[in-house]
Amino acid sequence: MVEEKKIAVIPGDGIGIDVTREAVKVLDTVCEVGGFRLLHDEFDFGAERYLTTGVSMPEGIYERFQKEYDAIFIGALGDPRVPDMAHARDILLGTRSVLDLYANHRPIQPLHDRLCPLKGRGRDEVNFVVFRENTEGLYVGMGGIFKKGTPDEVAIQEDVNTRKGVERIIEYAFNFAKKQGHTKVTMSDKSNALRFGHDLWQRVFAEVSEHYPGIEANHLYIDALTLQMIKRPEQFQVIVTCNMFGDIVTDLGAVLQGGLGMAASGNINPDGVSMFEPVHGSAPKYAGKDIANPFGAILSVQMMLDHLGFHEPASWIERAVVLCIEKEETPRELDGNLGTVEVGDAVCRRIRELGG
Ligand code: IPM
Ligand code: MN
Repeated sequence: MVEEKKIAVIPGDGIGIDVTREAVKVLDTVCEVGGFRLLHDEFDFGAERYLTTGVSMPEGIYERFQKEYDAIFIGALGDPRVPDMAHARDILLGTRSVLDLYANHRPIQPLHDRLCPLKGRGRDEVNFVVFRENTEGLYVGMGGIFKKGTPDEVAIQEDVNTRKGVERIIEYAFNFAKKQGHTKVTMSDKSNALRFGHDLWQRVFAEVSEHYPGIEANHLYIDALTLQMIKRPEQFQVIVTCNMFGDIVTDLGAVLQGGLGMAASGNINPDGVSMFEPVHGSAPKYAGKDIANPFGAILSVQMMLDHLGFHEPASWIERAVVLCIEKEETPRELDGNLGTVEVGDAVCRRIRELGG
Protein backbone atom coordinates (compact mmCIF):
# COMPACT_ATOMS: atom_id res chain seq x y z
CA MET A 1 0.00 0.00 0.00
CA VAL A 2 1.64 3.23 -1.09
CA GLU A 3 -0.55 6.06 -0.04
CA GLU A 4 0.20 9.47 1.32
CA LYS A 5 -1.98 11.30 3.79
CA LYS A 6 -1.45 14.49 5.71
CA ILE A 7 -2.28 15.05 9.35
CA ALA A 8 -2.45 18.38 11.17
CA VAL A 9 -1.21 17.90 14.73
CA ILE A 10 -2.14 20.33 17.51
CA PRO A 11 -0.47 19.24 20.77
CA GLY A 12 -2.35 21.96 22.67
CA ASP A 13 -1.74 22.63 26.36
CA GLY A 14 -0.50 20.87 29.47
CA ILE A 15 -0.27 17.09 29.24
CA GLY A 16 -1.73 17.39 25.73
CA ILE A 17 1.84 18.17 24.66
CA ASP A 18 3.26 15.17 26.56
CA VAL A 19 0.79 12.61 25.22
CA THR A 20 0.73 13.95 21.65
CA ARG A 21 4.49 13.42 21.41
CA GLU A 22 3.95 9.72 22.20
CA ALA A 23 0.93 9.44 19.92
CA VAL A 24 2.95 10.85 17.00
CA LYS A 25 5.82 8.49 17.83
CA VAL A 26 3.39 5.58 17.61
CA LEU A 27 1.99 6.95 14.35
CA ASP A 28 5.48 7.13 12.86
CA THR A 29 6.26 3.61 14.03
CA VAL A 30 3.08 2.20 12.51
CA CYS A 31 3.90 3.94 9.22
CA GLU A 32 7.42 2.57 9.22
CA VAL A 33 6.34 -0.97 10.06
CA GLY A 34 3.39 -0.86 7.65
CA GLY A 35 5.43 0.70 4.85
CA PHE A 36 3.15 3.66 4.19
CA ARG A 37 3.50 7.40 4.60
CA LEU A 38 1.52 9.77 6.76
CA LEU A 39 2.98 13.23 6.82
CA HIS A 40 2.26 15.42 9.78
CA ASP A 41 2.63 19.12 10.43
CA GLU A 42 2.56 20.54 13.90
CA PHE A 43 0.58 23.65 14.83
CA ASP A 44 1.39 25.35 18.12
CA PHE A 45 -2.14 26.57 18.82
CA GLY A 46 -2.72 26.73 22.55
CA ALA A 47 -2.51 28.94 25.59
CA GLU A 48 1.13 29.93 25.12
CA ARG A 49 0.63 31.27 21.61
CA TYR A 50 -2.66 32.89 22.59
CA LEU A 51 -1.03 34.69 25.52
CA THR A 52 1.92 35.94 23.49
CA THR A 53 0.09 36.91 20.28
CA GLY A 54 -3.52 37.39 21.37
CA VAL A 55 -4.58 35.08 18.56
CA SER A 56 -6.00 31.62 19.21
CA MET A 57 -6.56 30.51 15.61
CA PRO A 58 -5.00 32.45 12.72
CA GLU A 59 -7.12 33.70 9.81
CA GLY A 60 -7.91 31.10 7.21
CA ILE A 61 -6.75 28.15 9.28
CA TYR A 62 -10.01 26.21 9.15
CA GLU A 63 -10.03 26.46 5.35
CA ARG A 64 -6.43 25.30 5.33
CA PHE A 65 -7.29 22.27 7.43
CA GLN A 66 -10.09 21.46 5.05
CA LYS A 67 -8.03 21.86 1.89
CA GLU A 68 -4.64 20.51 2.87
CA TYR A 69 -5.22 17.80 5.47
CA ASP A 70 -6.88 14.40 5.70
CA ALA A 71 -7.33 14.52 9.46
CA ILE A 72 -6.49 16.54 12.55
CA PHE A 73 -5.02 15.21 15.77
CA ILE A 74 -5.35 17.34 18.88
CA GLY A 75 -3.94 16.85 22.41
CA ALA A 76 -5.93 18.73 25.04
CA LEU A 77 -6.63 22.38 25.79
CA GLY A 78 -6.84 24.37 28.97
CA ASP A 79 -4.41 26.48 30.95
CA PRO A 80 -4.86 28.26 34.29
CA ARG A 81 -3.42 31.44 32.70
CA VAL A 82 -6.53 31.63 30.50
CA PRO A 83 -9.22 31.24 33.15
CA ASP A 84 -12.17 31.71 30.79
CA MET A 85 -10.79 29.11 28.34
CA ALA A 86 -11.31 31.58 25.48
CA HIS A 87 -8.59 29.97 23.37
CA ALA A 88 -9.94 26.45 23.95
CA ARG A 89 -13.34 27.52 22.76
CA ASP A 90 -11.86 28.87 19.54
CA ILE A 91 -9.49 26.01 18.90
CA LEU A 92 -11.48 22.96 19.97
CA LEU A 93 -15.10 24.07 19.84
CA GLY A 94 -14.34 26.34 16.86
CA THR A 95 -12.91 23.47 14.84
CA ARG A 96 -15.80 21.19 15.77
CA SER A 97 -18.24 23.84 14.68
CA VAL A 98 -16.58 25.31 11.57
CA LEU A 99 -15.60 21.92 10.14
CA ASP A 100 -19.04 20.60 11.12
CA LEU A 101 -17.65 17.63 13.04
CA TYR A 102 -21.09 16.69 14.20
CA ALA A 103 -20.55 13.15 15.41
CA ASN A 104 -18.40 12.78 18.49
CA HIS A 105 -17.62 9.06 18.54
CA ARG A 106 -16.47 7.85 21.97
CA PRO A 107 -16.00 4.09 22.41
CA ILE A 108 -16.35 2.71 25.94
CA GLN A 109 -14.61 -0.61 26.55
CA PRO A 110 -11.86 -1.48 29.02
CA LEU A 111 -8.96 -3.05 27.12
CA HIS A 112 -8.42 -5.50 29.96
CA ASP A 113 -10.81 -6.87 32.58
CA ARG A 114 -8.70 -5.56 35.41
CA LEU A 115 -9.12 -1.98 34.22
CA CYS A 116 -12.85 -1.99 34.86
CA PRO A 117 -13.68 -0.71 38.34
CA LEU A 118 -17.08 -2.45 38.44
CA LYS A 119 -17.27 -5.66 40.42
CA GLY A 120 -17.72 -8.70 38.17
CA ARG A 121 -17.57 -6.67 34.95
CA GLY A 122 -14.89 -6.40 32.30
CA ARG A 123 -14.36 -6.26 28.55
CA ASP A 124 -17.43 -8.32 27.67
CA GLU A 125 -19.88 -6.50 29.89
CA VAL A 126 -18.69 -2.95 29.26
CA ASN A 127 -18.64 -2.59 25.52
CA PHE A 128 -20.59 0.21 23.90
CA VAL A 129 -20.13 3.50 22.06
CA VAL A 130 -21.47 6.95 22.76
CA PHE A 131 -22.33 9.29 19.92
CA ARG A 132 -22.39 12.79 21.27
CA GLU A 133 -23.95 15.54 19.15
CA ASN A 134 -20.94 17.79 18.71
CA THR A 135 -21.99 21.08 17.14
CA GLU A 136 -25.02 22.47 18.93
CA GLY A 137 -27.04 22.26 22.15
CA LEU A 138 -25.67 24.27 25.06
CA TYR A 139 -22.32 24.61 23.30
CA VAL A 140 -23.32 27.08 20.57
CA GLY A 141 -22.41 30.09 22.68
CA MET A 142 -25.75 31.86 22.32
CA GLY A 143 -26.84 33.96 25.25
CA GLY A 144 -25.43 36.72 27.32
CA ILE A 145 -25.08 38.40 30.64
CA PHE A 146 -27.19 41.35 31.64
CA LYS A 147 -26.33 43.68 34.54
CA LYS A 148 -23.09 41.81 35.05
CA GLY A 149 -21.58 42.08 38.50
CA THR A 150 -24.70 43.58 40.07
CA PRO A 151 -27.17 41.84 42.40
CA ASP A 152 -29.67 41.90 39.51
CA GLU A 153 -27.37 40.01 37.18
CA VAL A 154 -29.01 37.70 34.61
CA ALA A 155 -27.09 35.01 32.69
CA ILE A 156 -28.70 33.21 29.77
CA GLN A 157 -27.20 30.21 27.95
CA GLU A 158 -29.36 28.97 25.13
CA ASP A 159 -29.81 25.29 24.32
CA VAL A 160 -30.07 25.13 20.54
CA ASN A 161 -31.42 21.94 18.96
CA THR A 162 -32.08 21.96 15.24
CA ARG A 163 -34.02 19.30 13.37
CA LYS A 164 -31.12 18.86 10.99
CA GLY A 165 -28.61 18.55 13.83
CA VAL A 166 -30.66 16.10 15.87
CA GLU A 167 -31.60 14.05 12.84
CA ARG A 168 -28.10 13.59 11.51
CA ILE A 169 -26.57 12.43 14.80
CA ILE A 170 -29.41 9.98 15.46
CA GLU A 171 -29.15 8.76 11.88
CA TYR A 172 -25.38 8.38 12.33
CA ALA A 173 -25.91 6.27 15.48
CA PHE A 174 -28.42 3.95 13.80
CA ASN A 175 -26.25 3.63 10.74
CA PHE A 176 -23.27 2.70 12.85
CA ALA A 177 -25.39 0.17 14.77
CA LYS A 178 -26.58 -1.38 11.53
CA LYS A 179 -23.07 -1.63 10.08
CA GLN A 180 -21.70 -3.20 13.26
CA GLY A 181 -24.60 -5.64 13.60
CA HIS A 182 -25.89 -4.11 16.83
CA THR A 183 -29.50 -4.63 17.78
CA LYS A 184 -30.22 -1.66 20.01
CA VAL A 185 -29.71 2.10 20.08
CA THR A 186 -30.36 4.02 23.29
CA MET A 187 -31.22 7.71 23.01
CA SER A 188 -30.87 9.72 26.17
CA ASP A 189 -32.38 13.12 26.85
CA LYS A 190 -34.19 15.01 29.58
CA SER A 191 -37.51 15.43 27.81
CA ASN A 192 -39.41 15.11 31.07
CA ALA A 193 -38.03 18.50 32.13
CA LEU A 194 -36.61 20.20 29.01
CA ARG A 195 -39.87 20.41 27.12
CA PHE A 196 -38.90 21.96 23.80
CA GLY A 197 -35.45 20.92 22.66
CA HIS A 198 -35.75 17.43 23.98
CA ASP A 199 -39.25 17.03 22.67
CA LEU A 200 -37.59 17.43 19.28
CA TRP A 201 -35.12 14.66 20.19
CA GLN A 202 -38.01 12.37 21.10
CA ARG A 203 -39.88 12.96 17.86
CA VAL A 204 -36.85 12.68 15.62
CA PHE A 205 -35.69 9.51 17.39
CA ALA A 206 -39.07 7.89 16.78
CA GLU A 207 -39.03 8.95 13.12
CA VAL A 208 -35.49 7.83 12.36
CA SER A 209 -35.89 4.51 14.18
CA GLU A 210 -38.77 3.62 11.81
CA HIS A 211 -36.16 3.22 9.07
CA TYR A 212 -34.23 0.65 11.10
CA PRO A 213 -36.77 -2.06 11.86
CA GLY A 214 -34.16 -4.58 13.02
CA ILE A 215 -32.82 -2.26 15.71
CA GLU A 216 -34.53 -1.68 19.02
CA ALA A 217 -35.06 2.02 19.75
CA ASN A 218 -34.54 2.35 23.47
CA HIS A 219 -34.86 5.52 25.56
CA LEU A 220 -33.56 6.55 28.97
CA TYR A 221 -33.62 9.91 30.67
CA ILE A 222 -30.07 11.10 31.24
CA ASP A 223 -30.18 10.71 35.03
CA ALA A 224 -31.34 7.12 34.65
CA LEU A 225 -28.69 6.51 31.98
CA THR A 226 -25.86 7.47 34.33
CA LEU A 227 -27.23 5.09 36.95
CA GLN A 228 -27.63 2.24 34.44
CA MET A 229 -24.12 2.74 33.04
CA ILE A 230 -22.84 1.67 36.45
CA LYS A 231 -25.56 -0.75 37.46
CA ARG A 232 -26.01 -2.76 34.27
CA PRO A 233 -23.58 -1.52 31.56
CA GLU A 234 -24.02 -4.75 29.58
CA GLN A 235 -27.41 -3.50 28.35
CA PHE A 236 -25.80 -0.85 26.14
CA GLN A 237 -24.51 -1.12 22.58
CA VAL A 238 -24.92 2.35 21.09
CA ILE A 239 -25.90 5.48 23.01
CA VAL A 240 -26.79 8.74 21.29
CA THR A 241 -27.26 11.99 23.15
CA CYS A 242 -26.87 15.76 23.03
CA ASN A 243 -23.64 17.71 23.33
CA MET A 244 -23.78 18.50 27.06
CA PHE A 245 -24.96 15.11 28.26
CA GLY A 246 -22.51 13.39 25.93
CA ASP A 247 -19.67 15.35 27.48
CA ILE A 248 -20.67 14.26 30.98
CA VAL A 249 -21.43 10.58 30.34
CA THR A 250 -18.20 10.03 28.42
CA ASP A 251 -16.14 11.03 31.47
CA LEU A 252 -18.18 8.47 33.38
CA GLY A 253 -17.56 6.04 30.54
CA ALA A 254 -13.82 6.75 30.71
CA VAL A 255 -13.62 5.58 34.29
CA LEU A 256 -15.26 2.31 33.23
CA GLN A 257 -12.33 1.90 30.83
CA GLY A 258 -9.73 2.38 33.53
CA GLY A 259 -9.54 6.17 33.78
CA LEU A 260 -9.80 9.39 31.87
CA GLY A 261 -6.39 8.76 30.32
CA MET A 262 -7.63 5.61 28.58
CA ALA A 263 -10.47 7.13 26.56
CA ALA A 264 -10.16 7.95 22.86
CA SER A 265 -12.46 9.91 20.61
CA GLY A 266 -13.15 11.01 17.08
CA ASN A 267 -14.91 14.22 16.04
CA ILE A 268 -16.35 13.08 12.75
CA ASN A 269 -17.63 14.82 9.66
CA PRO A 270 -18.39 11.88 7.39
CA ASP A 271 -18.01 14.10 4.31
CA GLY A 272 -15.02 16.13 5.40
CA VAL A 273 -11.90 16.34 7.53
CA SER A 274 -12.29 14.74 10.97
CA MET A 275 -10.43 15.42 14.22
CA PHE A 276 -9.18 12.90 16.77
CA GLU A 277 -8.40 13.53 20.43
CA PRO A 278 -8.15 11.79 23.76
CA VAL A 279 -11.13 12.54 26.02
CA HIS A 280 -9.02 13.79 28.93
CA GLY A 281 -8.17 17.41 29.68
CA SER A 282 -4.85 19.24 29.88
CA ALA A 283 -4.23 18.45 33.59
CA PRO A 284 -1.79 21.37 34.09
CA LYS A 285 -0.67 19.91 37.42
CA TYR A 286 0.89 16.91 35.67
CA ALA A 287 2.20 18.72 32.59
CA GLY A 288 5.81 18.14 31.61
CA LYS A 289 6.37 15.64 34.43
CA ASP A 290 6.43 12.49 32.30
CA ILE A 291 3.57 10.93 34.26
CA ALA A 292 0.52 11.43 32.04
CA ASN A 293 -1.14 8.36 30.54
CA PRO A 294 -0.62 8.46 26.75
CA PHE A 295 -2.86 5.44 25.99
CA GLY A 296 -5.97 7.55 25.26
CA ALA A 297 -4.00 9.67 22.78
CA ILE A 298 -2.41 6.56 21.24
CA LEU A 299 -5.82 4.90 20.90
CA SER A 300 -7.10 8.09 19.26
CA VAL A 301 -4.39 7.58 16.63
CA GLN A 302 -5.83 4.10 16.17
CA MET A 303 -9.28 5.62 15.57
CA MET A 304 -7.77 8.08 13.11
CA LEU A 305 -6.00 5.35 11.13
CA ASP A 306 -9.16 3.28 11.04
CA HIS A 307 -11.08 6.30 9.80
CA LEU A 308 -8.48 6.88 7.07
CA GLY A 309 -8.82 3.26 5.94
CA PHE A 310 -5.62 1.82 7.45
CA HIS A 311 -7.50 -0.90 9.28
CA GLU A 312 -4.76 -3.43 9.85
CA PRO A 313 -2.13 -0.97 11.09
CA ALA A 314 -4.83 0.50 13.34
CA SER A 315 -5.45 -2.94 14.82
CA TRP A 316 -1.75 -3.29 15.69
CA ILE A 317 -2.08 -0.26 17.94
CA GLU A 318 -4.89 -1.73 19.98
CA ARG A 319 -3.16 -5.09 20.23
CA ALA A 320 0.07 -3.39 21.27
CA VAL A 321 -1.71 -1.43 24.00
CA VAL A 322 -3.43 -4.60 25.24
CA LEU A 323 -0.05 -6.36 25.38
CA CYS A 324 1.43 -3.48 27.33
CA ILE A 325 -1.41 -3.68 29.83
CA GLU A 326 -1.02 -7.45 30.14
CA LYS A 327 2.72 -7.11 30.71
CA GLU A 328 2.16 -4.20 33.11
CA GLU A 329 4.05 -1.74 30.95
CA THR A 330 1.73 0.95 32.17
CA PRO A 331 1.70 4.51 33.53
CA ARG A 332 0.79 5.68 36.98
CA GLU A 333 -2.91 6.02 36.21
CA LEU A 334 -3.03 2.23 35.78
CA ASP A 335 -0.89 1.67 38.89
CA GLY A 336 2.16 1.03 36.72
CA ASN A 337 5.58 2.58 37.10
CA LEU A 338 6.44 3.69 33.55
CA GLY A 339 6.72 7.32 32.54
CA THR A 340 4.80 8.77 29.61
CA VAL A 341 7.77 8.38 27.24
CA GLU A 342 8.49 4.81 28.38
CA VAL A 343 4.88 3.85 27.75
CA GLY A 344 5.11 5.29 24.23
CA ASP A 345 8.35 3.34 23.67
CA ALA A 346 6.73 0.15 24.97
CA VAL A 347 3.80 0.50 22.56
CA CYS A 348 6.21 1.10 19.65
CA ARG A 349 8.22 -1.97 20.61
CA ARG A 350 5.07 -4.10 20.68
CA ILE A 351 3.99 -2.75 17.29
CA ARG A 352 7.33 -3.77 15.80
CA GLU A 353 6.85 -7.28 17.22
CA LEU A 354 3.34 -7.51 15.81
CA GLY A 355 4.03 -6.06 12.39
CA GLY A 356 7.55 -7.33 11.88
C1 IPM B 1 -14.26 17.26 25.86
C2 IPM B 1 -13.87 18.45 26.71
C3 IPM B 1 -14.33 19.75 26.05
C4 IPM B 1 -15.83 19.69 25.90
C5 IPM B 1 -13.88 21.03 26.80
C6 IPM B 1 -12.38 21.10 26.92
C7 IPM B 1 -14.42 22.29 26.20
O1 IPM B 1 -14.37 18.31 28.00
O2 IPM B 1 -13.84 17.18 24.71
O3 IPM B 1 -14.99 16.38 26.36
O4 IPM B 1 -16.58 20.05 26.83
O5 IPM B 1 -16.29 19.26 24.84
MN1 MN C 1 -15.35 16.43 28.39
